[in-house]
Amino acid sequence: MKNFSKSQALQKRAFNVTPLGVNSNFRYWGEGVTPYVQKGKDGYLWDVDGNKYIDYRMAFGPIILGHAVDEVDAKVAEEIRKGVLFAMTGELEIEVEEMMIEMVPGLEMVRLACSGTEATMHAIRVARAYTGREMILKFEGNYHGFHDNTLWSTYAPVEAYGNPRSPIPVPASSGIPRPLGSLIITLPFNDREAFERMMFSYGHLLAAVITEPCQGNCGAILPEPGFLDLIQQKCAEYGTLFILDEVKTGFRIANGGAQEYYNLKPDLMTYAKALGNGYPAAAFGGKKEVMSIIGRGVAQGGTYTNNKPGVAGAWATLKMLKEKPILKTIEGRGKRLMAGLSQILSDEGLVHCMNGYPAMFTYALGVEKVTSQRSWNESDKDLYLKIIAELIDRGVMPDNDAREPWFLCYAHSDKDIDDTLTAFRESVKACKK
Ligand SMILES: Cc1ncc(COP(=O)(O)O)c(C=O)c1O
Repeated sequence: MKNFSKSQALQKRAFNVTPLGVNSNFRYWGEGVTPYVQKGKDGYLWDVDGNKYIDYRMAFGPIILGHAVDEVDAKVAEEIRKGVLFAMTGELEIEVEEMMIEMVPGLEMVRLACSGTEATMHAIRVARAYTGREMILKFEGNYHGFHDNTLWSTYAPVEAYGNPRSPIPVPASSGIPRPLGSLIITLPFNDREAFERMMFSYGHLLAAVITEPCQGNCGAILPEPGFLDLIQQKCAEYGTLFILDEVKTGFRIANGGAQEYYNLKPDLMTYAKALGNGYPAAAFGGKKEVMSIIGRGVAQGGTYTNNKPGVAGAWATLKMLKEKPILKTIEGRGKRLMAGLSQILSDEGLVHCMNGYPAMFTYALGVEKVTSQRSWNESDKDLYLKIIAELIDRGVMPDNDAREPWFLCYAHSDKDIDDTLTAFRESVKACKK
C-alpha cells in the first residue's frame, strides 16, 4: 500500500480552512483517502507523498497536451510580464477568437469567459433573450456547471426521477430556488420518443434544448445514431435554440469538437477545458444572428473574461492543435487503451460495455449497453471503484467516480498505455480474488 501520510496531514489542515478540505466538492474522495497534489509533468502527477501516477483525470478534462507543457507555459510567461488584466481588449484575444472560428465549422461569433459554468450560463441568457421564452430542456445525467439554471437531475438517485414519460426535475443542491423548477424540463438521454412527445407539448415554450454531445458527466454514454440530429431538427421546427455544451468534447474529440464529429450546426456552443490546457479560458458562441443581440439590450461580460493567463494559454494550445496531429495521436493511443481494457475485462469474464471516444471514455460493468443515466445506474459501480482503488495503488489514476471518463493527453506515451494495461490486468485479478 502507498504511503498517504502527507496527504492525510494536509487534509487535516485544509479541513480547518475550507469545507471538506477542498475547493470543489468533486475533489473530495473521503476522509483519509483524498490525495493532495504536489506537481504534474506530461502525462504524470505526483501527490504530496511523492507517489507518481499516470494521470487519466487530466483535471477533469482540460489537460489535452500534458501537464506543464513548455510551449504553452512560455507563451503565458511572456504575455503576463506585460500585465495580466486591463479593462480593454487586446490583439491576443481577438486572435484566439479567430482561431476558434477557423477551427470550429459553425462558430461565427464568440465571447470569452473564464469557466464552463459561465459559458453555459451566458448561452442560456442569450437563448432566452433571443427567443423571448424562459423554459430550458436538459437531459438527466448531463452537467452544465454550477449555476442554478441547469443544476437539475445531474447526480440524483434515478428513483427520484419519476416515470420517463414525465420525469421529475430534481435539484442537485439545497439552495436552488424551487420556482426555477417550473422553468426546466428534464428527460432521459437518447429517448427519442420522450423527446418528440415533450417537444410536441412544450417546444413552443422552450428557449433552448441544451445537451452534452455524449454524457461526459455520466459514464461517457454516447448519443444513439441520429439522436443529436433529432434535437437539432426539432429545435429548428419549434424555434427553440439548440445549445451544444462542448465543455468536455471541444478541442478534445476533434479540432472542431462534437459539432465537426457529428456534422451538426447548433445555434450556440460552449467551450472551456481543453481550450486552455488548464489555463482559465472558456467561451460561448454560435450563429452571428443569435450572438449579435449581445450588447443590444442583452447583458454579458465579466472582469476576468480576457485574463491574460487564460487567453495566452488558449492561444498557445489552439496553435499547437492546429499545427500538429495532436488529436489524431491521442485518438490512436486511446483506441488501443480502450481495446486493451475491454479485452482484459472479457478475459476475466466480466460483462461490460465501453463508452465514449478514445480521448475521453470509460466502461460500465455488469451491463452490455447503456443509453441513459437510468440504464447506467444498473451497472456495478462498487466493482468499478474497487478496480480504481487497485489501479491507484499501482500508480494509475483515473477518477474515483464511475461517472467520470478517463481522459487522455498528447503526452501519454505508448509505454504509458502498456503500463496501464499491465496494472489494469493485475487490478482486475486482485478484485476477483
Ligand atoms: C459539459 C460541462 N459543462 C459545463 C461544465 C462546467 O465547467 P466549469 O467546471 O469550468 O465551470 C462542465 C464541468 O465539468 C462540464 O463537463
